[in-house]
Amino acid sequence: MMRLRKLRSSEQLRSFVRETEVNVSDLVYPIFVIEGENIKSEVPSMPNIFQYSLDRIDEELDRVEAAKIPAVLIFGIPSHKDERGSEAYNQNGITQRAIRHIKDKYPYLLVIADVCLCEYTSHGHCGIVCKGEILNDETLPLLSAAAVSLAEAGADIIAPSDMMDGRVASIRQALDENGYINTPIMSYAAKYASAFYGPFRDAAGSAPHFGDRKSYQMDPANAREAMREIEEDINEGADMIIIKPALAYGDITERARRRFDLPLIAYNVSGEYAMVKAAAANGWIDERRIVCENLLSMKRAGADRIITYHALDFAGWIDE
Ligand code: PBG
Repeated sequence: MMRLRKLRSSEQLRSFVRETEVNVSDLVYPIFVIEGENIKSEVPSMPNIFQYSLDRIDEELDRVEAAKIPAVLIFGIPSHKDERGSEAYNQNGITQRAIRHIKDKYPYLLVIADVCLCEYTSHGHCGIVCKGEILNDETLPLLSAAAVSLAEAGADIIAPSDMMDGRVASIRQALDENGYINTPIMSYAAKYASAFYGPFRDAAGSAPHFGDRKSYQMDPANAREAMREIEEDINEGADMIIIKPALAYGDITERARRRFDLPLIAYNVSGEYAMVKAAAANGWIDERRIVCENLLSMKRAGADRIITYHALDFAGWIDE
């Protein structure tokens, strides 16, 4: 009999043979910045996650800095929305101003800019809409313009999340032409049409007003297709890849890890956060242990880094 329990017999031994660990330096914290003044508004379905106006955002950024979280992912919520999502590529848009402010006041924080139109369009879709259809090629120049304006504002990393075909190539070309040859692209390459984004759409005010995102985001039933999406984004110039959501898609992370050598990031999305928070608030689960286990599962599947709303909580626990 192989006595595997030998290596579990003390905490010292367990710790000595541990294969995976999650550190604060692995985490990216998403932040919602809303146009307006003196706003700190809790997202109802995401306890302890707030929309901040720019004049109050430092409260949150100070915590992020103190916790030594290395990176933030910025989502701007504009007050003006239109058919073409013009605020997404307005040099003085809320997202651009937020990024300028963060890079000015917190220069060591890596700022990742989500590039999409859904927070900025009146219809809530990630691309231009014509007769109920979400147009691909017509959307690309707008995404590219948004990427350039975010790079100009100081974003360290550009993260397109729209799932239009060809956006990575189009954004890469636009960045290069405008002199941002050193700005990397972290693409949401395998992004599923998932109900796990529900709470985010409350947070970002980005729910589609008609239909759904199934014609551009991936079918949850498909794993091989995710490899094609990732391969295509890499061919077009992606430097890093996001798999999203994370928890129910660990197999996708694992497959991608076996096949590709670039940095892989798992996005532990809003619905995953909401489920844990709701169960914890009812006293049904041990929040801290559940969160650590969830994050560990993403690292174990092969993710190098994790985007998570739990980042601040996690940093606090590690510190104790
Ligand atoms: C924008 C975007 C979404 C998320 C990140 N970027 C929403 C969506 O695609 O509907 C979801 C993040 C989350 O649920 O935490 N397209």
